[in-house]
Amino acid sequence: MKLTSDKSVFEKYAHEYDLMTNAGQREKFHTGEVAALIEKFKPESVLDAGCATGLTSMLFAKAGCTTVGLDRSQKMLTEARKKYGDSSYPLEFRYGQFEKLPHVLQNKFDLVVCLANSISGVHTLSGLWKSLRSFSTVLRPGGNLVLQLLNYSAIKESDLVPIKTTVNDGLMYIRFSERHRRRFFVYTVRLDMNKDLSAFEVFRHDFDNFTEKEIYSNLRTAGFGQLHKYGDLFLKNRFARTSRDLVVTAKKPLI
Ligand SMILES: C[S@@+](CC[C@H](N)C(=O)[O-])C[C@H]1O[C@@H](n2cnc3c(N)ncnc32)[C@H](O)[C@@H]1O
Repeated sequence: MKLTSDKSVFEKYAHEYDLMTNAGQREKFHTGEVAALIEKFKPESVLDAGCATGLTSMLFAKAGCTTVGLDRSQKMLTEARKKYGDSSYPLEFRYGQFEKLPHVLQNKFDLVVCLANSISGVHTLSGLWKSLRSFSTVLRPGGNLVLQLLNYSAIKESDLVPIKTTVNDGLMYIRFSERHRRRFFVYTVRLDMNKDLSAFEVFRHDFDNFTEKEIYSNLRTAGFGQLHKYGDLFLKNRFARTSRDLVVTAKKPLI
């Protein structure tokens, strides 16, 4: 067995990300979530920050929103372009980092979404603040931001919490997480059942976790107003201490 601790697990497994996350099965459910966001914010243009292999970006574009999927992983972008690059949707994928989004994107979007805990990829509080500031600069006045994070406060210290187990084409991925104060670890076990079963690999992906209070105060100092929190992406359930997700919406003021 090999244990690798690596901050770039997404880069390493980009080519298997859809297998690992059951993207095919997730699509139907996620289509409903994206439809709910479109219904609520009625965006014409969307930035999908942390697009990975592009499912969310594609769903916004398919619904008619001019969409940019952005990621710092070139390998994820390659996978996204392979899947959707030739579509007739108003969709493009580009490289970028949340902390310093490309200048050409300033004031371009009605909606920025940063889903599936992607914001935790910035690792530090200063990275969080820079990213929220940067999301604000690419939004048009009156535009909205949606952040979807894990609700870390509902995860007990040192508990091992299962995330998901998937089996596709003989590849099994078992993922679980563990919280140690500010550190949050995601363990990924990869087992190729077509090969020698003893040759499984375990990866540990670690980052800082952010509290609800830190998200709120950084959103305010980054200039956002009208902050609301929900327990799901459909924006139906109010956030509760036991919610699995913390979904925060925020508006860039008109002036
Ligand atoms: C959990 S995956 C996101 C998944 C995607 N939004 C979805 O719903 O399937 C997180 C993605 O965010 C990207 N990411 C993390 N931190 C980033 C940053 N600071 N700048 C740009 N991309 C980042 C990673 O490369 C990865 O592809």
